Amino acid sequence: MKTQVGLPGFIDFLNTQSAKDFKSDRIDRYLNDNCLNNDDFLPFIYFREETYGRNLVYRTELFELLVLTWLPQQRTPIHDHAGQRCWVTVSMGELAFKNYEPMGLDGSRFDLKPMGCVEIGKCGTNSYIDDEIAVHSIANASRSPAVSIHLYAAPVASCQIYSEKNKRFENVDLKYFTVFEGDLTRPSKGLSL
Ligand SMILES: [Fe+2]
Repeated sequence: MKTQVGLPGFIDFLNTQSAKDFKSDRIDRYLNDNCLNNDDFLPFIYFREETYGRNLVYRTELFELLVLTWLPQQRTPIHDHAGQRCWVTVSMGELAFKNYEPMGLDGSRFDLKPMGCVEIGKCGTNSYIDDEIAVHSIANASRSPAVSIHLYAAPVASCQIYSEKNKRFENVDLKYFTVFEGDLTRPSKGLSL
């Protein structure tokens, strides 16, 4: 039985982790033992018509927490994670995760070899990825909107996305659609958004 944890409690936990802790299994164990209170993330849900939405909840030097929003058929390009670790929890709807292994062609050009099947993450599902596992894409392959919570350690300011046309990885700066600037570190006061 998982314990439900609110957003302030989750941020409290993350703020007590060292850089070494983020490289250990502490985050995995926490997410396995607890389930996040989805209602606490409602104020960060902003859908975009043009593309999936990246909404910043909280960021320090060691981690960033985002809410990503997905209208039907929206998807990421195939991308890496800039050497950082990434945990994802689907909090509404369902998402399709697909992993690929880059196969070098001539030093700068790559083919991508699909790894395994598309994995469907339903509401409440946790998943994890880093560059040693694969590059990947995420898509909302359903007919309903979806929302996911992403924890990156450390923050990822830019990453490599794969150009299928050029068969190359290209660096892109990552932007936020919305940024929350209130104080989420006072659990006794709860959320006052
Ligand atoms: Fe990703």
